[in-house]
Amino acid sequence: MEHSIKTVCVVGMGYIGLPTAATLASRGVDVVGVDVNPRVVDAINAGQSHFAEPDLDMLLRAATTLGKLRATSTPEPADAFIIAVPTPFLADKSADLSYIDAAADAIAPVVRQGSVVILESTSPVGTTERLARRLAAKRPDLKFPLTSDAVGVDVHVAHCPERVLPGRMVRELLENDRIVGGMTELCALKAEAVYAPFLRGKSFRTDAATAELVKLVENAFRDVNIAFANELSLICEQLGLNVWRVIELANRHPRVNILQPGAGVGGHCIAVDPWFIVAASPDRARLIRTAREVNDSKPHFIAAQVRERAERFKSPVVACLGLSFKPDVDDTRESPAIEIVLDLAKDPTQRVLVADPNLEALPKQLLGLPNLEFVDTLEAVRRADIVAILMAHTAFKRIPREELMRRVVIDATGLTQKPEAA
Ligand SMILES: NC(=O)c1ccc[n+]([C@@H]2O[C@H](COP(=O)([O-])OP(=O)(O)OC[C@H]3O[C@@H](n4cnc5c(N)ncnc54)[C@H](O)[C@@H]3O)[C@@H](O)[C@H]2O)c1
Repeated sequence: MEHSIKTVCVVGMGYIGLPTAATLASRGVDVVGVDVNPRVVDAINAGQSHFAEPDLDMLLRAATTLGKLRATSTPEPADAFIIAVPTPFLADKSADLSYIDAAADAIAPVVRQGSVVILESTSPVGTTERLARRLAAKRPDLKFPLTSDAVGVDVHVAHCPERVLPGRMVRELLENDRIVGGMTELCALKAEAVYAPFLRGKSFRTDAATAELVKLVENAFRDVNIAFANELSLICEQLGLNVWRVIELANRHPRVNILQPGAGVGGHCIAVDPWFIVAASPDRARLIRTAREVNDSKPHFIAAQVRERAERFKSPVVACLGLSFKPDVDDTRESPAIEIVLDLAKDPTQRVLVADPNLEALPKQLLGLPNLEFVDTLEAVRRADIVAILMAHTAFKRIPREELMRRVVIDATGLTQKPEAA
């Protein structure tokens, strides 16, 4: 099939931008990847990914060797632009849109008549329109779609949120269904064509604002459901019941499917994006806000539990097992385990041993604390009075049961408490 999109410029070559760029290049599209970080640009041009992702290296090497993908620091003219820059939150929990603004300013000089501009960054409702307005202000010579009924536009603008899961990105990019939200109906059609070279999943067209909210809602749904499980864990602790057993038995109901509690919610998506809904609708997003607060409170609850159990020791040593935000990965962004360790280590008299088999050294958030030591898992357990299991890494299942039985164990993950583990 002949595709109308021959050249694509991807702005932001991180977890989302790089696999998207490499996938497009693997389908014969000429791709230029833009990043402000020169180390990222150099790595890509050397055919190397700057983060670990299965199958990505192979795809990237092929794309760079064939000359279909190259990286640079400045956007170049293209049929389509994909913006995949970060959207973290600010201190007041509203979205930091400065990266998107910078990307818009960078592509403004090189967009041309017929170009498609797609915002892939997870964004609050209205951000795609804001992007179109910013581009329009920089390029008065071109007509942009500033309303949904705009006709005769020169540059088509759309929002296509990304929902791939790290660790399965290369496959999910092809297979996941896509929501394509256009500033106008024609914008959605034009944006759909950008993904046509590789998309095997279904594509659903809508308007840009709906697409923006769909992405936020997906993550808020997960957050609210995890908060329910976390709240149950707090209630069960008060009632002296095993939350894992309660959930297991409740889930025997044909229409009940409660998620698993944990140390909190981490990562840069589920722990962040629901705030964009709260910021947009503070009076109405009551459940979503409370879910965030419940999940954010869980690390402090666990730290308090550790402190309470430590009172009976003269100089207690605490082992914190697991630092990443989900099992069996090395990503510690927004990790509740890090918060727990920081909470405990702020008392300079408290000795804290930390262990995570997926990390080679202490993550940067924990550097410079004199009462903290990064050690091997078994050593941490053996030297500790109290063992706090903060993440359900598979490796922790191999800790000898008798080693744990000799210590006070606070298990936020259910690894040692789930009925099947008993
Ligand atoms: N990682 C995920 O699993 C995931 C999933 C769905 C959605 N998202 C969303 O996708 C967006 C990107 O996330 P990510 O994980 O790829 O981020 P990332 O931090 O891995 O990558 C972003 C890249 O953009 C670069 N950058 C920043 N400003 C730039 C600019 N002005 N011009 C060019 N490059 C610039 C950074 O140097 C970095 O390499 C975010 O909005 C995120 O919420 C991420």
